[in-house]
Amino acid sequence: MSKTAAQYDLAQRYLAGGVAASTRVNRGLGRPMYFDRADGCRLWDLDGREYIDLCTSHGATLLGHGDPRVREAVEQVLARGAACSYENELHAELARELCEVVPCCERVRFTGSGTEATMHCLRLARAYTGRTKLLKFEGNFHGYHDQVMFALAATVETCGSEENPAPLPASSGMLPELAEQLVVVPYNRPDLLEQAFARHGHELAAAICEPVYYNAGCLLPTVEFMGALRRLTREYGALLVFDEVLSAFRMGPGGAQEYLRVTPDLCTLGKAVGGGFPLSVFGGRRDIMARLMPEGDCQHSGTYNGHPVAVAAGLAAVRAYRQPGFYDHIQTIAHRLYTGLGALLATHRVRGRVQGLGARFGIYFGPQSEVRSYRDTFLHDRARMLRFVAAAIDEGVYFHDYGGAACHHGFCAAMTAGDVGLVLARLDRALAKVAAD
Ligand SMILES: Cc1ncc(COP(=O)(O)O)c(C=O)c1O
Repeated sequence: MSKTAAQYDLAQRYLAGGVAASTRVNRGLGRPMYFDRADGCRLWDLDGREYIDLCTSHGATLLGHGDPRVREAVEQVLARGAACSYENELHAELARELCEVVPCCERVRFTGSGTEATMHCLRLARAYTGRTKLLKFEGNFHGYHDQVMFALAATVETCGSEENPAPLPASSGMLPELAEQLVVVPYNRPDLLEQAFARHGHELAAAICEPVYYNAGCLLPTVEFMGALRRLTREYGALLVFDEVLSAFRMGPGGAQEYLRVTPDLCTLGKAVGGGFPLSVFGGRRDIMARLMPEGDCQHSGTYNGHPVAVAAGLAAVRAYRQPGFYDHIQTIAHRLYTGLGALLATHRVRGRVQGLGARFGIYFGPQSEVRSYRDTFLHDRARMLRFVAAAIDEGVYFHDYGGAACHHGFCAAMTAGDVGLVLARLDRALAKVAAD
């Protein structure tokens, strides 16, 4: 028995479902992977096999694993005792860096996870506007809390009409009544957005969206859609919230809002912001953030919020993203990898496409024209994707399929042009297996 198989055996005896978190099961394998160590863009499993990482901790390790700048910052704060639940100088230093680079951020607060960040951000939006309803887009993911974990897991049979998408809860145990507080609209449909605002605009505390919809691979918003969203939220007095947990730092230091040149009222930042450590952020306009206690009456706190280790790691990471040339390298690698992958699909006569922006991308088996909405991803051949993920892992490229219609993948800044060549050679062999199915 391999060490990996033995580990899963043991884990199943003590961990619910054999994992520390549900999506750790790689659907392509039907079990989790166990990594013994990691360095830059490489991972090694318990049996010593090497993989090039195209999951990058679901986007958290944008600098790569074990980045020396992050490690040094963490070691320094540990040597100082890492006094948890107190403030130190690093909090304001990181806050200043973020306010300098993220267009909407005049003030920020720290949380542990992206889930907490969206939860607090939406509470704040309700506190500020005195309204309760939220508008969300079909398929957009905003974390695991009950306020917005709806309209995510629909299939072609259960999704309802485009005019009236079904607000299905994505888990058992959720209060179905919370769906009554939601207005669900398909992504990239400014016409339907207009109709939704005409019906519910005056009741909306906020409209929340993924400004680049990475949770369906990589879907870009159209200019008309984003323009309508910004205009309508202003017109009806609802706050525009960009959930940049995944898009922050992905294509530039100011994230999707800088890239799209659309400034929301509030935003969340996660994953890459912590340099691989548990840190997320919400922030935005000063007058809105002033509603938070102790200045205002809206609660946000937590024992581990702004943990010194995570804040030190985040500060080192954000400073690294701000170094000249950082995003030139990301764009160079992105271009080589995405065009290379597209060419491999063509060589193997596998119908499909690659859509990427910055350091994250989606692969769609089946669709040939641009994938623009959650419903478009229903055309993606999931069964083939799962075979591809298994074949890629077999060849030494780690993709993680966490479920859902289409998944996002990505690379880290430690990846070199040589590594891309290696990835493409390995995926050439993986695609040969999938094409022969
Ligand atoms: C856009 C978005 N929002 C929120 C979350 C939740 O973040 P976390 O997993 O850190 O709780 C995620 C996680 O994938 C995400 O992609």
